[in-house]
Amino acid sequence: MSGRVALVTGAAGAIGGAIVRRLADDGFTVAGADLAVGADYRCDVRSEEEVLRLRSEVEGRHGTPSLVVNVAGVFFEHRITELSVEDWDLVLDTNLKGTFLTCKTFLPAMIAAGSGCVVNVASTAGIKGGHTRAAYCAAKAGVVNLTRSLALDHGGDGVRVCCVCPGLIDTPMADWITSRPDALAEFEESIPARRIGTVDDIAGAVSFLASDAAGYMQGAVMVVDGGSSA
Ligand SMILES: NC(=O)c1ccc[n+]([C@@H]2O[C@H](COP(=O)([O-])OP(=O)(O)OC[C@H]3O[C@@H](n4cnc5c(N)ncnc54)[C@H](O)[C@@H]3O)[C@@H](O)[C@H]2O)c1
Repeated sequence: MSGRVALVTGAAGAIGGAIVRRLADDGFTVAGADLAVGADYRCDVRSEEEVLRLRSEVEGRHGTPSLVVNVAGVFFEHRITELSVEDWDLVLDTNLKGTFLTCKTFLPAMIAAGSGCVVNVASTAGIKGGHTRAAYCAAKAGVVNLTRSLALDHGGDGVRVCCVCPGLIDTPMADWITSRPDALAEFEESIPARRIGTVDDIAGAVSFLASDAAGYMQGAVMVVDGGSSA
C-alpha cells in the first residue's frame, strides 16, 4: 500500500507504458489497466461493468486512486462515407465513452476525499480537424471539452481535471505516416521541433500535470506537439 495510487488505462500501449514507468519513478503506486495483455489489470474501458470491477480490484489491492490517467484509445484512418457504424462506435466508445466511464467511476472517491486529479490523453486531433480521421477528431474533441467541463463541475470539490494533446508521437499508432519515410521527413521539416514526439515527451507532461507544481492548472489543455499546431 502506498499513499498515492494512480490508475493508468491503455497501460499496455506505448504511451501508457511510458506513463506507468514515469509515475512509478515519481513515487506513485501504479495500477495499469488495458484490454490487451501486458497490464496489471484486464479491462475494456467501453464497459461500465468492467470499469466497476476494475475499481473493486484496484481498491482491494492498492487502495483508492487519487490520480486517474486515461490513455486507452484507438486510431485508424477512415472516411466517414465509408465508415461502418460499428467502427464509429469503436472509435467513440474507446476514446470518449471510456474516459466518461472511468471519470464516473473513480471521481466520487476523489470528491469524497476533497482531492485528486484526472489527466486525459486527448490529441491535437481534438483541437483541429484532420484528413481521414473525422471520427477520431470528434472523439478527441469530446475528450477535450469533457475535461474542461469536469474541471468546472469538480474544481470546487478539490479535484483537478486536465488533458494532454499529443501531436504525432513515435508509436505503432503513428504507422500510417512513419511507414512512409518521405511523408515523415516532410512532416518533420514542417514543424518547429523538426521531429516527431517520443513517449517520454508525453509521460513528462502527464507527470507535471499530476504533480503539485500544476496545482493551479484546472481544465488545462496542454498541447505537446513540437509546435505542429502553432
Ligand atoms: N501515437 C500518437 O501519435 C498519438 C497522438 C495523439 C494522441 N495519441 C493518443 O495516445 C493514447 C495512446 O496511444 P499510443 O500511441 O500509445 O497507442 P497504443 O495503441 O500503443 O496504445 C493504446 C492502448 O489502448 C488500449 N486499448 C484500446 N482499446 C481499449 C479498451 N477498449 N479498453 C482498454 N484499453 C484499450 C490498447 O490495447 C493499447 O494498449 C491514445 O489515446 C491515442 O489516441 C496518440
